[in-house]
Amino acid sequence: MIVEKSLSSKQLVAMEDKYGAHNYHPLEVVLDRGEGVYVWDVEGKKYYDFLSAYSAVNQGHCHPHIINALKEQADRLTLTSRAFYNSALGVYEKYMSDYFGYDKILPINTGVEAVETAIKLCRKWAYEVKKVEENKAVIIFASGNFHGRTLGAISASVDPDSRGGFGPYVPGYEIIDYNDLDALENALKSNPNIAGFMVEPIQGEAGVYVPDDGYLKGAYDLCQQYNALFIADEVQTGIARTGKLICCEHENVKPDILVLGKALSGGVIPVSAVLANDEIMLCIRPGEHGSTFGGNPLACKVAIAALEVVQNENLAEKAEYLGKIFRNRMSQLVEKSDWVSLVRGKGLLNAIVINDSETSKTAWNICVALRDNGLLAKPTHGNIIRFAPPLVMTEEQLNECCDIIENTILNF
Ligand SMILES: Cc1ncc(COP(=O)(O)O)c(C=O)c1O
Repeated sequence: MIVEKSLSSKQLVAMEDKYGAHNYHPLEVVLDRGEGVYVWDVEGKKYYDFLSAYSAVNQGHCHPHIINALKEQADRLTLTSRAFYNSALGVYEKYMSDYFGYDKILPINTGVEAVETAIKLCRKWAYEVKKVEENKAVIIFASGNFHGRTLGAISASVDPDSRGGFGPYVPGYEIIDYNDLDALENALKSNPNIAGFMVEPIQGEAGVYVPDDGYLKGAYDLCQQYNALFIADEVQTGIARTGKLICCEHENVKPDILVLGKALSGGVIPVSAVLANDEIMLCIRPGEHGSTFGGNPLACKVAIAALEVVQNENLAEKAEYLGKIFRNRMSQLVEKSDWVSLVRGKGLLNAIVINDSETSKTAWNICVALRDNGLLAKPTHGNIIRFAPPLVMTEEQLNECCDIIENTILNF
């Protein structure tokens, strides 16, 4: 019998370091297995996952309903490309269109591809429907945004790490302050070529910045008034994370273009989507946009199963309920510890701000201590720690996690 010698965490970290590009700086823990709210490292130590792969694993790790759908379809048909029809896509498209209330969906793979799709769709609509002069369309973005890593997305970024050294950038963008309706109105009224406004309903990567109540509704109304499209990037905030199916629902806003990714597959495979009504979506015609893997049968089946879990297990309601408990517990911690200056968020997308400079290592070191105590989280920007556990967490587990966070920080 051959006994396969398993590699230690140290060896695996060294391999990634030697053979992988250095485009990430992971916390040192090597994960090998996941189930629900838990993950295990290669040495068998168990942790609470309090990041959920940046809100992709809302349904919990390896949810059996999703994994069964994956396995069943994997044995049947995985990829046809869009050269042909397949037996899963139409059913999925109808399911998505009913689930989110749009005429049509454009299926694609990663979050940033969905963002790119939305940008292209918005430009196309501007030329075909709004009658903006060719090549003059402008899309407005909010400062502090994170829409992904392609050139189209980083051209909208103001983050020097995301942007620096990758120019020249895509033209036709205007950046305004986040959470500033006057800035949006000024931008809209000063240029008749504005095609749309792309915004995250909560800026996740920037550090879980929640805009003022009324911002999303105000921005949507302004877009309507000036005949521009309101595009919500809900790649991180969507799929029940913030306590509603999509975050815009908190203000009863239905985006003209809705961008989804991450938890659309429960973190199982890359699945993303753009949703819009016919007047917008039909501006893109055969041959103008697509992807070999977009709408593949495996993705279709996995996404339907992932969305069934969201509905069957009332994940939006759970996120809303547990989020209140979490922020309440963290507010008590703000009172007790000088290290934590505030907690903010919606549903189970939250962050605490650590009382130290943005360039300090304190938040990182707290995350290392949390890891040692069995809970995985990561700083977003210097002194901010994002907390986004799987939404399938029980109240008891959440309270245990709050105990770990509290004890770690009080003993830090
Ligand atoms: C709001 C938002 N948009 C887009 C993306 C990009 O998604 P992906 O990494 O799947 O390309 C992210 C990823 O964190 C995101 O948070």
